[in-house]
Formats: sequence, structure tokens, C-alpha cells
Amino acid sequence: MNICWYHHSSIDSTNTWPKGQQEGFGHHELTVVTADIQTKGRGRQGKPWFSTEKTSSYLSFAFFWQATAFQPFHFSQLLSICFVELLQMHGIESQIKWPNDLLVNGKKIAGILVEIEPLENLSYIIVGCGLNINMSVKTLDNLPKKATSMLIETGNSFDIQAIQTELISLFLKKLQEVKNQGFEQSIASWHQKVQWMVSQHAIVQTLSTKAEGFITEITPDGNLFLEISPGEIIPVHSGEIFC
Ligand code: BTN
Repeated sequence: MNICWYHHSSIDSTNTWPKGQQEGFGHHELTVVTADIQTKGRGRQGKPWFSTEKTSSYLSFAFFWQATAFQPFHFSQLLSICFVELLQMHGIESQIKWPNDLLVNGKKIAGILVEIEPLENLSYIIVGCGLNINMSVKTLDNLPKKATSMLIETGNSFDIQAIQTELISLFLKKLQEVKNQGFEQSIASWHQKVQWMVSQHAIVQTLSTKAEGFITEITPDGNLFLEISPGEIIPVHSGEIFC
């Protein structure tokens, strides 16, 4: 796959920009969209994504994939594995929190938003991610939830473009692997990395409901099972979890 990288100094959202632009992108291209700042950064479940200028990475991948050969969640599993490897390369140990948050010492450092546009035989896939790189404690203190950055975890500031280049090459390598061998290997790595959550007490907030209980299982395809009262187990397919 060829890489085609579009950088913007300011943009509403790197996930929104490539929407509807698929006509202009080649079927064997990996389009990368980055920005110094997003004015309408979007998180999962319609939440805003806090995006301050030149302090973090706001990056989206856009590409085509055979429609029958994946589930949307596979790409989020793939990218979360890339984040674990990327952070490890810089001496930071991270955990994946279901469904696809990256945590360091219990605080969120990165998030992933996957959006799919079905076409005829292909799907047009946009995988966006935010990674807190040089955000200070003071900046992150303004956020409602606990968050951290590579700067806070290591005491060093980082070249954002260099980190993005590393992430792009990790993701490209994984895409090539799954094209050749399928998703099994990356799904297995993701599955293993979320096992720490099993048996934890958790509150799950979906768009319409809230449930509380103990996590009994997380399946490789990303379903979580919550025991809300003795013997009563419910599946949770998406949502936000507090544990
Ligand atoms: C989450 O809620 O955890 C997902 C956050 C995804 C944020 C990234 S930043 C780059 C891309 N552009 C957006 O508007 N959102 C994603």
C-alpha cells in the first residue's frame, strides 16, 4: 500500500475530513490525515475529543477493504495493538481497556474511533486516533476523566511527527499482515491484553442504559459479559466502562 499523507494546520476533525472523499483516493492507498489542532475533534459515543494545538497526535487512516473480510471492530483491535507497541518503544507500558482505550497507570493516553462507509464490494474505512503526547498535567487536569500523556509518563517531550511516522509504519505493517494471514493473530493479542479486566467490578454506560456488575468474560470478537446479579449475565456490545 502506498501512503498518502495530508497534514492540516487546523481542521474540524481528521475523521470528518476524509468522509465523502473516497473518489479521490486509490484503492491500494493508505491515506493518512493529521492536524496540528482539531476544532471539532470527535470521540466515541458522540463525545468531543479535547484537541489542543501541537501538543498531541490527531491522526486518521482512511483506506478500502473487501467488504466481506472484516468486522469494524477488527481495525480498532489492530490499532490498539500498534499503540501498545509504539508506547513500549518509548519505555511506556500500557494496557488496553475494553473496548479500545489505551491506559497507562490507570489513565487514558489514547483513544480510537472507527467509522465505516459501505460501498458496493468494498468498504471505506476511517480509523482515527488521538494520542496525548506533550500535554502537561495542567492541561489534562481540565478534562473530566483521568488522562495522561507521553510527556507525563516519561518526563520527556516528543517530536509529534516522528511519533506519527512510527505509528503509521506499525499500522501499515499490521494491515499487510492481516491482508496475508487474516485477523486471528492480532485478535488473539488484543484478547490477551484485555484479560486483566475479567473479574473486575464495573459500571457500563451505553447510549441508553447503565449496568453494574462483575465482568465474567470478554470474547475475542469484543463482546463483554457482565454479571449484574448472581447468575444473571448480560452481554454488552459497546459502551463505556468504569472499573
Ligand atoms: C475515544 O473516544 O476514545 C476516541 C477518540 C478518537 C479521537 C481521534 S483524534 C483524531 C480523530 N479525529 C477525531 O475527530 N477523532 C479521532
